[in-house]
Amino acid sequence: MDSAKLTLNGKEYDLPVLVGSEQEVAIDITQLRAQTGAITLDDGYGNTGSCKSAITFIDGDKGILRYRGYPIEELANKSSFIEVAYLLIYGELPTVDQLDQFKHDLTHHSLLPEDMKKMFEGFTSSAHPMGVLSSMVASLSTFYPETDYKQEANLNIIRLISKIKTIAAFSYKKSLGQPYIYPRNDLSYTGDLLHMMFAVPSEKYDFSPVIEDALDKLLILHADHEQNCSTSTVRMAGSSHANVYATISAGVGALWGPLHGGANQEVIEMLELIANDNMDYKKYISQAKDKNSGFKLMGFGHRVYKNFDPRAQILKGASDRVLHELGINDPLLEVAKNLERVALEDPYFIERKLYPNVDFYSGIIYKALGIPTNMFTVMFAIGRLPGWLAHWKELRDNPALRINRPRQVYTGHTRRVYTPVENR
Ligand code: CMC
Repeated sequence: MDSAKLTLNGKEYDLPVLVGSEQEVAIDITQLRAQTGAITLDDGYGNTGSCKSAITFIDGDKGILRYRGYPIEELANKSSFIEVAYLLIYGELPTVDQLDQFKHDLTHHSLLPEDMKKMFEGFTSSAHPMGVLSSMVASLSTFYPETDYKQEANLNIIRLISKIKTIAAFSYKKSLGQPYIYPRNDLSYTGDLLHMMFAVPSEKYDFSPVIEDALDKLLILHADHEQNCSTSTVRMAGSSHANVYATISAGVGALWGPLHGGANQEVIEMLELIANDNMDYKKYISQAKDKNSGFKLMGFGHRVYKNFDPRAQILKGASDRVLHELGINDPLLEVAKNLERVALEDPYFIERKLYPNVDFYSGIIYKALGIPTNMFTVMFAIGRLPGWLAHWKELRDNPALRINRPRQVYTGHTRRVYTPVENR
């Protein structure tokens, strides 16, 4: 199979066919407009490959997710978030020395410029931490203006991964009206994040290794997901050669939406709603099926996964384990399991291949770890950052990079004659 045939206005065109390393077939239309004058239309990009990428592979029918060839299940069990970040960005698992150096670099860039504290002061205490995060990430460009991509890319990658947890923790402390807690160099990446979020100046904060380990796993599971909405946003913004801070800030904004990363907050709010409504999950299943209700089962459905989301399966098991280990009995876990069971037996969900996605169980674990609901999507952003950076680096390292600039099918008015305002 080396070409596809297209017939348009009676004329036949040969279009090259590409096959990816996992035998995925793509029709190459890069010369389509030049050859035929026509464009393609694919609302929502469900059939459009926007780039070639060697970072993450998903087979949505088989429920497969691999980072750089390594199955997500293996990485979640055996590696650390920092190791996975290195793998995604640089393409290979680090050696002991490489990992030590990476950890060292990440540890020694975690302070924010002291002037940034004044910027935190400018937000109201009710500011959503995702709004604070996207503003603060963009504002890093004013402290570290990018002048040369090649010279500075690596340092900026380190700065971002290292500082995002400090920004996240400061935004949380700001919302509580508590003093900011500075990073500690003796803690792991995830341990330091917990320390900055939950320590208070007068007390030593001891967190359980169960919490540190569970949060680290959650970050691994969120670390990349190929061309999803926020990653495509990062690639789109990065294609203009915008600086990395502005580029990643655009990704944070896209992630915030309730159909994407913002779903994890919405899931817990939905489960609480059901729990407070006599656990009547069947009522909410009916509403989710009624297109006029405006209600969706949050944490259900996925553009790519049509069988199961492997991340959700790992998290379902992990939520049981974490709650047990922490001695927490959260009725929301029961609501979630009942909701899942009823939905998966319902023809509406079966026919549409709607299964729990990563956001369905993650919120229950975040809640058990003591992370407040409005910080859930921030946790997702911290996890997704290495993926965004890997895609940004892959894009910028491509010598054939062109600015991303889709076309459209115009459906507005044809030429009209302007009427001066007094004559309208
Ligand atoms: N509840 C009820 N119906 C649904 C749901 C849902 N959660 N998801 C999809 N459907 C229906 C949808 O109405 C449509 O029905 P019909 O064919 O009768 O018109 C059908 O299923 C196909 O859905 P779609 O909206 O065309 O699918 P999509 O690929 O455009 O959207 C989605 C994917 C994830 C945005 C969507 O399933 C959704 O809104 N889910 C709830 C939000 C959510 O959990 N988002 C997190 C996604 S995973 C984390 C991440 O990576 O972002």
